[in-house]
Amino acid sequence: MKKRLLTGLQSSGTLHIGNYFGALKPFTEIYRDYESHLMVADLHALTTIRDASSLRKNIIDVVKDYVASGVDPREAIIFKQSDVPEHTELAWVFECLVTVPFLMQGHAYKDKVAKGIEPTAGLFNYPMLMAADILLYDAEVVPVGEDQRQHIEYAREAANKFNLAYGDTFVPPQEMILAGVGVVPGTDGQKMSKSYKNTIPLFGTTEEIQKAVMSIVTDSSGERPENVYAIHRLVKSDAELEVLYRENKGKYKNLKEALADDINSFLTPMREKRASITDDDVKNILHEGAMRARERASAKMRTVRKIIGTSL
Ligand code: TRP
Repeated sequence: MKKRLLTGLQSSGTLHIGNYFGALKPFTEIYRDYESHLMVADLHALTTIRDASSLRKNIIDVVKDYVASGVDPREAIIFKQSDVPEHTELAWVFECLVTVPFLMQGHAYKDKVAKGIEPTAGLFNYPMLMAADILLYDAEVVPVGEDQRQHIEYAREAANKFNLAYGDTFVPPQEMILAGVGVVPGTDGQKMSKSYKNTIPLFGTTEEIQKAVMSIVTDSSGERPENVYAIHRLVKSDAELEVLYRENKGKYKNLKEALADDINSFLTPMREKRASITDDDVKNILHEGAMRARERASAKMRTVRKIIGTSL
């Protein structure tokens, strides 16, 4: 029997190759080993998005990104949180078990407060909705980025609090930190990140990739342009690069052109795949996924209602 896995997808805008090599690619390599659930966290997104058309676009985009990157909708349940009302129902149950001081320790909440932003009740309760996402499906394995570690602790705690109050019902989940290839360097040599404006787009045009690669900062002191090489390693073997960099010693322009070509050859199939997925395809995937997710969630919630006494 395969273990159950669930992860939540929140669109973070246009993806770059750092997102791909750091998170999407490692995910596509492991998800088939589990009974995988990919949930678009559209209700969580409401904590930051207040514009319907942006939210719709984000939902569609994030599904396209994952499918184009290699997640096969026939081999995973891909669904949208808001299509399964049991998520918010179970979140409420957990909110009645955990204390305010406990939720006040949340990093995301504390950061907002520290910045002088007035947090909404949704942001405050965010960890309990996330706990419900995971525990409704008895997911034991939760792939997330390092920044989500505390949220998985909250989910474990929600499971423990419930089990203590009502008897064993939920499996405490475990985070799976997808490290990928480690830090993917950006065009300036720092970690590739949208906030540093040093990214190479994952689904960009040939020209956009060319432009980003040509802007890579090179340092002429060393044997080879390290920033170029570090990115090149993601798409070509060390053995191939050895020869290329030896033959083009000191010719930084040639090496950058070779890198742009290699990135383009690597990304073209994914880019074409993404362009071939229509919005209707996404709606069909989510519709199909919602039916399968609801079946599981409603069975679990029926049990919970009996245990807590809301069903007669
Ligand atoms: N909070 C997660 C993030 O920002 C998204 C998320 C929502 C999630 N529900 C989840 C992740 C359940 C894992 C499991 O990335």
